[in-house]
Amino acid sequence: MRILLGVSGGIAVYKAAELTRELQRRGAEVQVVMTAGAERFVTPLTFAGLSGRQVLTSLWEPAVDEAASGEAGQFDIEHIRVAQEVDAVVIAPATANTIAKLAHGLANDLLSTICLATTAPLLVAPAMNVNMWRHVATQENVATLRGRGVRVIEPGAGYLACGMVGEGRLAEVDQIADAAFWAVKEAGRKRDDLAGEVVLITAGGTQESIDPVRFLGNRSSGKMGVAVAQAAVARGAKVVLVTAAGADASLRCEQVVVGTAAEMQRAVMERLPEATVVVMAAAVADYRVKEVAVQKLKKRDSMVLELERNEDILRRVVEEKRQGTVVIGFAAETERILEEGRRKLREKGVDAVVANDVSRADSGFEVDRNAGTLLMRDAEVELPASSKREMAERILDYVGAMRAVPVGLGF
Ligand SMILES: Cc1cc2nc3c(=O)[nH]c(=O)nc-3n(C[C@H](O)[C@H](O)[C@H](O)COP(=O)(O)O)c2cc1C
Repeated sequence: MRILLGVSGGIAVYKAAELTRELQRRGAEVQVVMTAGAERFVTPLTFAGLSGRQVLTSLWEPAVDEAASGEAGQFDIEHIRVAQEVDAVVIAPATANTIAKLAHGLANDLLSTICLATTAPLLVAPAMNVNMWRHVATQENVATLRGRGVRVIEPGAGYLACGMVGEGRLAEVDQIADAAFWAVKEAGRKRDDLAGEVVLITAGGTQESIDPVRFLGNRSSGKMGVAVAQAAVARGAKVVLVTAAGADASLRCEQVVVGTAAEMQRAVMERLPEATVVVMAAAVADYRVKEVAVQKLKKRDSMVLELERNEDILRRVVEEKRQGTVVIGFAAETERILEEGRRKLREKGVDAVVANDVSRADSGFEVDRNAGTLLMRDAEVELPASSKREMAERILDYVGAMRAVPVGLGF
């Protein structure tokens, strides 16, 4: 696997050295390209020493490297050759300036020109001061890139080199390496293995009204369902996302935004007849407030809310789905994870359950990573800690594999 690591000029350049090592440790060949800005922080020598390859820095003065030039008498245009040779382009750290250039399609140095000339997946890992990151210009540029399919590896929050605290820290090296390897794997995957499928997905935590301003909710962010939607779209499926987490501008599929469990149920049942696959990743409230107040409730010393059960959407889906529609549920648990997942698989009549531990700080609700076990009737598959997108792909692999079984021999 050949990864082009683009390094632009921010304080976090030194972390790109560690990333070079990590990508190599996982078996990738790394070709580093530095911007002029990056060279002001670290000399190319560091990356040349680590990668064992000449670092490319200039559009106008191609590297004098025999391995990098064509056959005798032939002249290779370096940026075009490099752009075609690589399996992924990862820019880490990506400065606000480089992100802006990419968003506007500028090509005035080697890295930005390669980014236009390549058809390989492009990943950017931004790192900058919190105000630069939050600036509407940067946020719009990031949204533009996302909309074009560029994978943006979100910066983390914490103490920044500029002395401020907030978002803007380069994502962890492991996370960037994971994303790069996943992007390459995904690009090589048969792109349309879910073509013809209609995948109905639920996402987010439902909100049960107490009065016009308050609700009972849960910690589900909707990220897992969105990841399944992204993966299913990329694999050629028609996707309908019923979401209680608000619409996601980066998604290229139909989205039905709902609030309460009852609204989610209505939307799901309406779309169920056309679905061939249903993935229920939403955290649906088991209860709703029996009598929702019409006016905002006044403060009192104590208050008792009477709750009544919401209908079990998953059960209804299993009862009313067309024959052959694959149904996958999620079991978000904090204890006896597998037992609870197996019980759900048995009792609800679904084809598979993703059992995951939501008590962990590093996976489950609200964060970008997850881990769990895919429980099927005749097999259990470990889903090791990974990005939610990677986990979504594994879950869809199961759907793809099931579709490969001739009709009549089904699971
Ligand atoms: C000391 C110093 C630290 C900087 N750190 C960052 C940074 O972390 N992120 C960023 O976006 N820009 C940072 N900049 C600004 C960029 O270096 C500047 O915008 C430059 O034009 C980026 O060029 P490039 O994107 O071609 O590498 C820094 C500048 C200086 C002088």
